[in-house]
Amino acid sequence: MTEQTDFDSEDTYPDDFDIAPVRLTVDLGALVDNWKEMARRSGTAATAAVVKADAYGLGLEDCGTALYEAGARDFFVAVVQEGVTLRTYAPDARIYVLSGIWPGQERLFYENDLVPVIISEEQLAFWMSVTAEHGDHPCALHVDTGFNRLGLPLEEAIAFAEDVSRPASFSPVLVMSHLHSGDSPASPLNRAQLESFQRVAAAFEGVPASLSASAGIFLGPEYHFDLTRPGIAAYGGEAVNGMKGLKLSPRPKPESCRSARHLPARRSAMAQPTSFRATAGLPSSRPVTRTAISARCPVPACRSGRAVRPAPSASSPIPACPSSVG
Ligand SMILES: Cc1ncc(COP(=O)(O)O)c(C=O)c1O
Repeated sequence: MTEQTDFDSEDTYPDDFDIAPVRLTVDLGALVDNWKEMARRSGTAATAAVVKADAYGLGLEDCGTALYEAGARDFFVAVVQEGVTLRTYAPDARIYVLSGIWPGQERLFYENDLVPVIISEEQLAFWMSVTAEHGDHPCALHVDTGFNRLGLPLEEAIAFAEDVSRPASFSPVLVMSHLHSGDSPASPLNRAQLESFQRVAAAFEGVPASLSASAGIFLGPEYHFDLTRPGIAAYGGEAVNGMKGLKLSPRPKPESCRSARHLPARRSAMAQPTSFRATAGLPSSRPVTRTAISARCPVPACRSGRAVRPAPSASSPIPACPSSVG
């Protein structure tokens, strides 16, 4: 280490933005308004807040706290670590972990009162052994109604619900499923999934049921069941293709603006690529503004490689592209 420097000992470090390559300003008021709007549209169903993946990249602590203060008492996170973090800010909330429980995580679930969402037959068997050893604990069951992604197979889940020999201590606090085409309201696949899920809800009579994320909320009350799970719509994203057709009023607001440093504009010599693998480019010679952000910054990927309007000054806002936050 150098012993002497040219810096005055009175010099302070620059503030965060002088060091950080990019700044994300999140309007938590708009986030809360959007979530409340989704709650209003959920009618009599309770409305959870989905804050998985660090609240869609906007910050679990700030977004989680704002939503908790706005009245959210059911939260969905992606992984157990997020649940542990959120527990600090949402002391009496029910926190569901969408990826379920994996060996070695038992203590985290019990000590932080987190609810694993059981996503497979293997996890169900594991969860049975965990509760046999550590005592009963709430869980949720994700049933696959046609997405072929996560969940117990439909018929197996129904058989399980009707199995009189299953341990009485095993009592899920939620059965849920996920629509794959909710963003396409005209798709007949929505009704097919709805009908499958109605069978599940009937088999687990008395257990609260949840089918809809943001898009499903717009499909109407039949899809709401007991609990809705809006994520992207609360963050200002477009949940439904052709949303205008649904006559949304008010339309959920975008919640964040991003700013970063811009490099001086320059003119490209000719048609040139502007992205990896040259998948996007400039058709001809024209002025180019470049923004100093890295691929790991929380800036929508759809902006990469596209022409962005030249910024009048450094650190001016980049228009958000909410539909890519997901
Ligand atoms: C099971 C589940 N529920 C709810 C959500 C929230 O979905 P959306 O962001 O479309 O509202 C997600 C997100 O992928 C999810 O996986």
